[in-house]
Amino acid sequence: MGTVSTKFNKAGDEEARQADGEADGLRKAAHLDICIDEQQFDVEGGSSGFEGIQFLHRALPEVAEPDVRTESEFLGHSVRLPFFISSMTGGSDHGYNLNKELARAAQACGVPVGMGSIRIIFRKPEVIEHFQLKRYAPDVPVFANIGGVQLIEMDHEVLYEGVKRLEVQGIAVHLNPGQELFQPEGDRDFRGIAAATARFAEGSPVPVLVKETGFGIDPISARMLLESGAQYIDVAGAGGTNWVQVERHRLSGAAGAAADEFRSWGIATAPLLAALRALGVPGERLLASGGVRNGLDICKALALGAHSVGLALPFIRAVHAGGYEGVTELIGRYEKVLRSAMVLTGCVTLGELSTATLLTSSSFREQRDALVAAARVAE
Ligand SMILES: Cc1cc2nc3c(=O)[nH]c(=O)nc-3n(C[C@H](O)[C@H](O)[C@H](O)COP(=O)(O)O)c2cc1C
Repeated sequence: MGTVSTKFNKAGDEEARQADGEADGLRKAAHLDICIDEQQFDVEGGSSGFEGIQFLHRALPEVAEPDVRTESEFLGHSVRLPFFISSMTGGSDHGYNLNKELARAAQACGVPVGMGSIRIIFRKPEVIEHFQLKRYAPDVPVFANIGGVQLIEMDHEVLYEGVKRLEVQGIAVHLNPGQELFQPEGDRDFRGIAAATARFAEGSPVPVLVKETGFGIDPISARMLLESGAQYIDVAGAGGTNWVQVERHRLSGAAGAAADEFRSWGIATAPLLAALRALGVPGERLLASGGVRNGLDICKALALGAHSVGLALPFIRAVHAGGYEGVTELIGRYEKVLRSAMVLTGCVTLGELSTATLLTSSSFREQRDALVAAARVAE
């Protein structure tokens, strides 16, 4: 994630480009420190809505645990598990070290892995190594990341070259207007991102997925993005990492107090998934992330119809605290929960899980229905 400097556009301004690269690196390192230190910094806000859903437990499941199948497909490749490590880091030494461990763990466990925005490699080319994760994760899908705002101002051919050099299987385009508004050096003009994303997707050498970063993709935007050639949209809804709160820790005075008012901002992930499915978004193009905090949240997102489920904060904290083993252990825990919940709901395949009976709270249903109604009014 990050900000855009107009200086970057003016060819030949090498000094400005390097200064921007340095600033990007420092900001990324600060974000990482804030996200990792949960004792000192509170970065989560609102509710993801998963607590408003329960599975119907089956006392007679009629399923043998070894028969459960969790294999899935992601960006055209088969994967062992239907969840992934969301886009996070790179661009600082600490970020690079964590990226390597995340990628090694992803390879060992058979899950896809994302990376943080690659914009910095066009400003500070020496950090390209931080993003060359394919060498640590040769057998699982690895996807790059770039901001939607950058698609307006950067030469797409240059980006395609970067993507090819990284040998990734896809690229995530992130939408983060909330964060940008609270970065002193952030973007303020969000016009033209949908059109730029469509142009980018059309020429991209790899499939494009479009994600938010913790406030959710509303149904109208979701439809536009799917029509514009994105293979997946990742709702990245509210209830988990809140990037205005992350920025708040770098702000003071009135700016900090203003950021504080956005603590519960955004569209909760679980009712948003349900609303998108109710509005006809095909499950195979829908990814779920934002406030997914345990194995059962993963199962619930799959039961709401998501194709695969992403987690960011839990993995960055796991890799910081326990390195490669910390991440593989966490993935093992999620796998155990997934397999067990599938048995206890009488499901052998992920297809069956996607239609499992869910008991939902009135608050969940109200939020889902309000989202559906708002989308229908806007149509
Ligand atoms: C340390 C950190 C760095 C992140 N950097 C990026 C990024 O560069 N690009 C991006 O699209 N999302 C980035 N994200 C956002 C996540 O991919 C995800 O959308 C968001 O954190 C919500 O998921 P969560 O609640 O599981 O953390 C970052 C998240 C964390 C925690």
